Order: sequence, then C-alpha cells, then structure tokens
Amino acid sequence: MKKSKTWGYQENMSGGYENISKPKNVWEEFFADKKRGGHRSSAEEFLAMEAREKLFHLDGGKKLLDFGCGAGELLVYYATEYEKTIGVDFSPSMLDEASKRIRERNCENTTLILADDKTVWDKLDSSFDRITAAGVFQYLTYQEIDEFIFNASNYLNNGGKIVLFDMLDPRLYPLWKIGLFSQDKTCWKFICEVVCGVKNTISASLKNRPRDILGYSHNPKTIKKIANKNGFEIICVQSMYYEYRYHAIIFRT
Ligand SMILES: C[S@@+](CC[C@H](N)C(=O)[O-])C[C@H]1O[C@@H](n2cnc3c(N)ncnc32)[C@H](O)[C@@H]1O
Repeated sequence: MKKSKTWGYQENMSGGYENISKPKNVWEEFFADKKRGGHRSSAEEFLAMEAREKLFHLDGGKKLLDFGCGAGELLVYYATEYEKTIGVDFSPSMLDEASKRIRERNCENTTLILADDKTVWDKLDSSFDRITAAGVFQYLTYQEIDEFIFNASNYLNNGGKIVLFDMLDPRLYPLWKIGLFSQDKTCWKFICEVVCGVKNTISASLKNRPRDILGYSHNPKTIKKIANKNGFEIICVQSMYYEYRYHAIIFRT
C-alpha cells in the first residue's frame, strides 16, 4: 500500500481532536466549527430516505469507509448495513457530533478518524469494499480528486467501489442557484438572484475567498477521465434529492 504521510493530529485533553502541525486550508477553516452536513432537511425522516438512496447505490460490501463523514448523519445508517464502518473528517466539531450520534445509536462497529484527503491513508490499517463520500468532493480540486482515487485504489478490495455522492454538476448548479428549479420563483426574484450572484462572485475574487461556500462543481466527463486514468470504469447517475447534483459510481470491470 502506498504511504503518503504529511501531517499529524492528536487527541486533546478533553477528548476532542486537534490538528498539530498542518496549516489549515480555507475549507478546513470553514468546517472547523460546523456541526451539520448541510442536508436539505435535517429531519431524521429525510436523512433516512437519503441514506436509503445511498445504500441502494453502494450496493452491498462488508467494510465501508465514509470520507468526509461530517456529523455522521449518513454514517449511522450505513453502520447498520455493514460489518465495519470508518468515518473520516478533518473537522473536529463534526467528528464530535458524529461521535455522539454513534454512541446514541450504539454503532459499535464504527470508528472515527480525524484526517484529510492526504493524511487519511496512513491512518488506515485495512482495505475496504466501499469507499464513499457524500457532498465532499466539491471541496477538492481535480488534482486532489485524482490523487484521492489513486490512493483509494490501493485500499479497495477486489470487486470494491468508490462511490462519490452528490457531486455538483456544473451544467445544472448555476441554474439551481438562480432559482430555475424553484416552484415559487417570480421574475423579480430571478433578476435579484442573478445580480446578487454576479456581485458575490466579484467580491469573493477581490477578497481572495471562495466564490461559493458549496465549493467547486466538477464536470462528469473530467471525473470519468480521472477514473479511467486510474484504471476504473464509471457510471454517473442523477441525485434523487438534489436536482443539481450527481453521483459518480467508480468500479473496476
Ligand atoms: C457537506 S458536509 C457532508 C457531511 C456528510 N458526508 C454528510 O453527508 O452528512 C462535508 C464534510 O466534508 C468534510 N471535508 C471536506 N473536505 C475534506 C477533506 N479534504 N478532508 C476531510 N474532510 C473533508 C467537511 O469537514 C464536512 O464535514
């Protein structure tokens, strides 16, 4: 297995986690105190439905890695269907929430790791049938995605899959942002959204901060090229609960 250690983390005195050396990137900073995964609804019924859709696409396997598990809102549903689940995230506050959820649901088969897309690999001591991420890859660049898939391939069992849920679709996301899918959109609201969007984009680039707190959108064709380059096939399907997102199911033939 490829080793790629760069930074380290340690558990602090109060049982939480802290980063001991790596300079924080803008997204790590952004998520450092967040406690929710940003689902369309945080009602348990909605999360259960979302998890069911995701379990359908995950389609079995025994050991699962949930990269960017956040507050564990989906992870706890995966845990009931897998023998072993590992949640990884670089946000201490998210992991604290995930830890509470795991305890409440008695998910004894689940462990959490504080790490990012570069450091996670050296913290794993086994390989997986499924490596998944939901609403996470929008915070990675194409190059980081390429590296992630390359590293993940070394930790994937025979017949394993990498399933990237809810990627932002660059063809649909701008339309969703200006409210084109919204049922109660008036012409005036539509114009306001467009003007605000342009204003935010200019202001963000002047202040050198992310243009959009939802991160980057990724073209499915480029994701396919990356998957193929790493020896995988890919199927992209529309996300059921987010009109402007798609799932990338990556596997070997
Ligand atoms: C939108 S939330 C989704 C959380 C969870 N997957 C869910 O669906 O409930 C994105 C999560 O990815 C984590 N994340 C983003 N980039 C990451 C990275 N490079 N390494 C580790 N975690 C990351 C964030 O901390 C956050 O918890």
